[in-house]
Amino acid sequence: MKKFFLVVVFLSSFCFSFCQTVSSGNIIEKTTAPDGWFIRTNSSVYQIIVNGNGEVVPVYYGNAAQAIIEKKSPLRTYGISEVPVRGGFANKTPVMEVVFPDNVRDIELKFENGEIINVDGYPTLKITQNDKVYPLQIISYLKVIPQCDIIEKWIEVINNGKKSPIRIENLQSASLSLPADSYQLNYVSGYWGHEYQPQSTLLTPGLKTLQVKDFKSYGIPWFIVGKENTIRDTSGPLWFGSLQYSGNWRLDFDKSSEGGLQIVGGINFWDSWWNLRPSEHFITPKFIFGYTEKGTEGVACDLHRYEKEVVMPKNTVERLRSVIYNSWYATTFHVNEKDQLALAKIAKSLGVEMFVIDDGWFKGRVNDAGGLGDWTVDRNKFPNGLNPLIKKINDLGLDFGLWVEPEMVNPNSDLYRAHPDWVLNFPNRKRHEQRNQLVLNLARQDVYDYLYKSLSNLLREHNITYLKWDMNRALSEPGWPSAPPEIQREVRIRYVQNLYKLIDGLRKEFPRVWFENCSSGGGRVDMGMLSRTDVFWPSDNTDPVDRLFIQYSYLGVFPANTMSCWVTDEVAHDEHPSLAYKFDVAMSGVLGVGYDVTKWTNEEKALATEKIGKYKQIRPLIDNGILYRLVSPYKENRCALQFVSKDRKQAVLCLYNLNENMKGSTNDTRISNIIQLRGLDEEASYKIEGDDEIYKGSYLMKIGIQWPVSGSYKSKILSLNMMN
Ligand code: DGJ
Repeated sequence: MKKFFLVVVFLSSFCFSFCQTVSSGNIIEKTTAPDGWFIRTNSSVYQIIVNGNGEVVPVYYGNAAQAIIEKKSPLRTYGISEVPVRGGFANKTPVMEVVFPDNVRDIELKFENGEIINVDGYPTLKITQNDKVYPLQIISYLKVIPQCDIIEKWIEVINNGKKSPIRIENLQSASLSLPADSYQLNYVSGYWGHEYQPQSTLLTPGLKTLQVKDFKSYGIPWFIVGKENTIRDTSGPLWFGSLQYSGNWRLDFDKSSEGGLQIVGGINFWDSWWNLRPSEHFITPKFIFGYTEKGTEGVACDLHRYEKEVVMPKNTVERLRSVIYNSWYATTFHVNEKDQLALAKIAKSLGVEMFVIDDGWFKGRVNDAGGLGDWTVDRNKFPNGLNPLIKKINDLGLDFGLWVEPEMVNPNSDLYRAHPDWVLNFPNRKRHEQRNQLVLNLARQDVYDYLYKSLSNLLREHNITYLKWDMNRALSEPGWPSAPPEIQREVRIRYVQNLYKLIDGLRKEFPRVWFENCSSGGGRVDMGMLSRTDVFWPSDNTDPVDRLFIQYSYLGVFPANTMSCWVTDEVAHDEHPSLAYKFDVAMSGVLGVGYDVTKWTNEEKALATEKIGKYKQIRPLIDNGILYRLVSPYKENRCALQFVSKDRKQAVLCLYNLNENMKGSTNDTRISNIIQLRGLDEEASYKIEGDDEIYKGSYLMKIGIQWPVSGSYKSKILSLNMMN
C-alpha cells in the first residue's frame, strides 16, 4: 500500500512538472544505461537507444509519466531503427534507398555520435551515422518544440567521396514507430471545390499510402493516429504529423502482421531520383510529429501554436490581416481602370482595407487562353499602366494587391513563343494543356531568373503590398530534355527548391508585401507554403454552407489568420443563405468581399458595413486568439467555433445553423440544444453579448447555455467579456 502511494505521489509530481513546462536543460537528456537519449516535450517522451549492435533504435514515444517507468530498462523495442535503410533483411519501409557507384544497393549503418545542438533556438538532437564501407554519411535531426508537444525530424545526407555520385532512389524525412496495437488513421482528402474531407480508416496489416504525384492535392499532408475508436474531440492520446513540403509528397502507414505501426513521410520519390555528387549535402524537408492527450482539439491547438511560433513568416505572423476586396467574382478577366475604381470606392466605404485585382490585368489576358507568362500590364486595358489606378486606390486609403500565376505559361504568350523549351515536356509526346496552360520548368535557372526579374520589376515599379500567388494545374510530362540525363529525373525536386527560393527571395527584397497562396482553391496547402506565405485560399467554393465544412476541416490543421474567406454571390445549393449568413461564415477567417458591390442596394451596403465593423472588433481574437472547434458540422446540423484571447478575458462565439428542418426527422443530427464553451477561466464571470445574465466560466464550460440561434441557415457572432 505504502509503495503504491509513493509511486502515485512520484508520478503525479512528475506529471505536474510535465503539465507545466519542460525546463530547457532537460528537454534532451543523454542517458548512459541504456545508452541513448530521453527527449521530453510538455506531455510526451521520445526515447532512443543505441543498442549493443551499434544500431540507433527508438524505443518509446508517448505519455510522459508512463515513460519514466520504462526509462531505465525499456520494456520493448519497436525493432525498427531511427533511420531504416534498404539493406540487410529489408522488411521495413526504408527511409533511404541508394545505389553506390559499384552498383551495390545495400546500406549498412554504423553509429558515429550524437550531439545536442541548438537550431533556431530549439534543442536538437543530431545523430550521425556512417555507412560501414562507402563514403555516405547520414545525419538525422530531432528538433524539439516542447511547448507545442512537437518534434521536427529531418535528414541530411552527405557524399564524403571524392569521385563519384551516389544515386538516391528514395530519401524520406523520417520514420516513426508505435508498438503493436490496433490503430485508426484520420486524414483529409478532397477534390476541386470539396477540399479537406475527413477520412478515417482502421489500419490493418499492410501498407496505406497517402501521396501526391502531380503537385496537386486538395487534401493536406497531415494525419492523426490513435488507438482504435479513441480519436475523440477533447480526450485521449493521439499521435499526429505533417510534412513541410509542397511538391510530390507521401506518407506511408506500414502495419506489420505483429501489430506494430511504422509511419514514414517525405518527398515522394516516385519517378524521381537525386544524384548526390561528391561533397554534396542533401537535406530533406521536415516531418513534424506530435503527441497529445487532449484529442483532436489538442492536435489543432498544438499545431496552431507551433505554426504561429515556429513556421509562419516572422514579419507578419502577429499582424492583423486586412479586410480584402478581390475582383475575381465581380469582373473575372474583364478588368479596367474605370470599373476597378468604381468597385474600390464602394469597397472602401464598406470598410475594406486592401483592394486586390485578380486575374486579367496583364498583357494579352482577355480570357484563360492567353497571356500567362507575360507579367507586364495590358496596355489595352490600362493604357497608362497600373500606377494611376494604384495611386487613386491608395488615395482612397486602400492598400493595393495583384494576382499572379508565375509557374505557368499559355502557349499564346510572348514568353512561350520565345522559349517553347522552357516548359516541362518530353520529345515525341503531347504537351497536355489544362485551362489552356503549360507548366514552366522552374528547375531551370533561366526560368527562375526570368520569373525573379519579372516579379521583382512588378513589385519595384508599383506600390503593391499583396500578391496572390496562384497555381492552376497539375504537372504532366515532367521532362527536361536539354538537361544531362542524370539530372532529368531530379526535375520535380529542383522545381520545388527553386519555387521556395523564388518566394523567399521576393519576400526578402519586398518585406512589406503579403503573399496569398492559392492553387485553384486549396490545391497546394501545406506547411512548406505556410512558412513563406501569409494566407491560403482554401477553396474556390465560396458557397457558405459548403464553406462551413471546408473551413471546419481546414481549422483542424491551420490557424484562422491563414484562412482567406470571401463573401461572394456564389451559391452551390438551393438554400440561398442570406448575405448576413455569408458574412458570419467568412468572419471566422480572413474576411474578404468578392461581390460586384456596384450592384448592391443601400440595405446590402449597410449590412456589409455593419458586418465588416463587427469583424474588425473581433479580428484580434480571430487572428491571434486560441481556437476551440466546439461543434462539428460533420457530426451535427449546426457548427460552432470559439476564439479565446490568451488571457482568457475575451472570447467570440461563431454559431451557425444548417438545415433546421431536419429537426426531429431522421436527418436531425443535433445531439443537444445546449452549447458548452471551452478555454475560459473557471473562476471568472463572463457576460455574453445580447444576454443579461452573468455566467461563471465553470458554468459556461460544464453546463453550458441554450443554443441561441434558431431557423435554418441562421447564425450569430457573439462576443464574451470577462467581468472585472
Ligand atoms: C483560380 C483561383 O482559385 C481563383 O480564386 C482565381 O484567382 C482564378 N484562379 C483566376 O484565374
